[in-house]
Amino acid sequence: MEDKKCLPQAFKFIITALLLLLQCVDFSSAVEGSSANSSAVEGTSGMKEGNVDFDSEVERSSAREEGQWQLLLNNTGVVAMHMALTHHNTVIIFDQTGSGQSGYRLRRRYNGRKCMETHDDITDSSCYAHSVEYNILSNKIRPLRLDSDTWCSSGSFLSNGTLLQTGGYGGGYRRIRYFRPCENSHCDWRESKKSLSDNRWYASSQRLPEDDQVIVVGGRRAFTYEFVPKLSSTGTSFNLPLLHHTNDRNSGGNNLYPFLHLSSDGNLFIFANRHSILFNYRRNMVVKTFPQIPGGGSRNYPSSGSSVLLPLDHTDGFQKVEILICGGAAPGAYRAAQEGTYVEGLSSCGRMVISGNNHQWDMENMPGPRLMNDMLILPTGHILIINGAKHGCGGWDNARNPSLQPYLYKPKKRIGRRFSVLKSTKIARMYHSSAVLLPDGRVLVAGSNPNNRYTFTNVPHPTELRLQAFVPHYMDKQFQNRKPTNVSIYYGSSDEYGVRYGGDFTVMFRLERRPSDVLEFTAYAPPFTTHSFSMNQRMLRLRCKSMVRSEDGWMNAVLEAPPSPNTAPPGYYMLTVVNEGIPSISQWVRFFHA
Ligand SMILES: *[C@@H]1O[C@H](CO)[C@@H](O)[C@H](O)[C@H]1NC(C)=O
Ligand SMILES: *[C@@H]1O[C@H](CO)[C@@H](O)[C@H](O)[C@H]1NC(C)=O
Ligand SMILES: *[C@@H]1O[C@H](CO)[C@@H](O)[C@H](O)[C@H]1NC(C)=O
Ligand SMILES: *[C@@H]1O[C@H](CO)[C@@H](O)[C@H](O)[C@H]1NC(C)=O
Repeated sequence: MEDKKCLPQAFKFIITALLLLLQCVDFSSAVEGSSANSSAVEGTSGMKEGNVDFDSEVERSSAREEGQWQLLLNNTGVVAMHMALTHHNTVIIFDQTGSGQSGYRLRRRYNGRKCMETHDDITDSSCYAHSVEYNILSNKIRPLRLDSDTWCSSGSFLSNGTLLQTGGYGGGYRRIRYFRPCENSHCDWRESKKSLSDNRWYASSQRLPEDDQVIVVGGRRAFTYEFVPKLSSTGTSFNLPLLHHTNDRNSGGNNLYPFLHLSSDGNLFIFANRHSILFNYRRNMVVKTFPQIPGGGSRNYPSSGSSVLLPLDHTDGFQKVEILICGGAAPGAYRAAQEGTYVEGLSSCGRMVISGNNHQWDMENMPGPRLMNDMLILPTGHILIINGAKHGCGGWDNARNPSLQPYLYKPKKRIGRRFSVLKSTKIARMYHSSAVLLPDGRVLVAGSNPNNRYTFTNVPHPTELRLQAFVPHYMDKQFQNRKPTNVSIYYGSSDEYGVRYGGDFTVMFRLERRPSDVLEFTAYAPPFTTHSFSMNQRMLRLRCKSMVRSEDGWMNAVLEAPPSPNTAPPGYYMLTVVNEGIPSISQWVRFFHA
């Protein structure tokens, strides 16, 4: 079967043949997961179907695509400057450690010493949590221990699901930390004895195809990149001229937190300010210099637009690689904000194919100006633009007029028909807010603190500790009968570790009724999100090689893993079955090198 998608006609055609064949290989026992030789990894994600039952802030919006909002917690304790979803279905949230009193007071310091009710202890930063782990199913948080300052740092998941977290501020400038997620709530941050070569404050990081190699790029006064782990024992950092010439010295930089995307040819796309290159990091060589993005202004911190790699697709062998950048701040916005004037942000988005030989930015406009916007790829392949503000720029108290309405962008529609405006929230998500996609299809939204300390009164935008979920329209009850359920993944053979590149694996799920249109299978790399950029975020539409549906509604699809680590660096991905635009709950699948 070489169809682009798993079309129903195709399996209608093969269904009789296969059902006969299936009897020979005892298909029914595999369905129940009882075949001794099919290594079932059912429910590795631990997510249960349906019944999310939290307070609804706003009532359901019916047939439209607006979605809705849920208020999950009134107090996360800690500002979500950084967030990342682990493959144990928890979300790591952390702030800077230097912010003093957070909303989560500890009874004891991490060294065991009690926190008393004295003035000294009440103002002592070490008597407060600065990182928490949020458990999605139980809707609860627990404090985590941070030993050095993670202010404006970066992160990437390694192939085994451990988060590698890099840089920060002061004593944290060169720190490398690990968080190894676990089932039992005993895991915590661990500091490496090794350190970075340069200070990495406002740097970005990206997982590379090589096993557990991460590149860390840029930072304040750091016009370099480096690898973790280092390439050799004497390894140091490498100069990156792009960062020198894109630095707006008097405007706070405008090239911090550069946008990084791994192209499927194995080179790294690096975007800073208005400029971008395709970079061969193995040979320290610029492969391509792309045209400057039109639209004025700047796109990186403190101008703080955002960027995604649009979903890669098996139909072209994952070779067409396209970047979307939206929002940012107008020229002079940083200086103006220092003087109390908040300039309107950029409305424009630029879209460019970075593979092939023909490169130009195609420009289009969002429904309004926006900066400090997060951009997430939903399981449908649509891009959600959420959080941020309409005026000003990034940095302490530099912005006004929160953007309360998320936008949805449909990349495959005709230009001019791609954007829609979604349900408004009442909670401003300004500087130091973030958002992550959850396995059940919701988007977790947290944070906002444009103030140096936790400040709840007498400021334009107080510290925000409420945790919300944006619930996209595809979770609406009216689509329940289209939603694939009971998804489980079988790696086959005796290899329960994951799927090798190019290898096959099986996805079992249920559909209430025969699919009438298109089924898609997507794999999503969970990002590390901070300062409006989701590092390492990528989605792949996988090839379905065959599919059958049994009388009782069970579907069995054989999928092909991505061909190489260039298309999908080794690690855990969220596998989602999307039926007529309605996604299932995602299950974790692991891709690895043979
Ligand atoms: C499982 O596979 C092994 C090796 O292929 C084979 O020897 C064994 O009989 C199989 N077990 C079952 C229960 O099919
Ligand atoms: C948050 O606080 C408000 C006001 O006190 C209360 O009505 C609401 O139930 C709380 N929500 C949650 C999720 O705790
Ligand atoms: C994953 O790899 C990292 C780095 O090698 C290591 O520190 C960590 O303990 C490993 N985690 C697991 C779950 O094996
Ligand atoms: C599908 O999943 C639901 C929820 O986990 C469960 O109650 C139900 O029994 C499952 N259905 C089948 C046929 O296994």
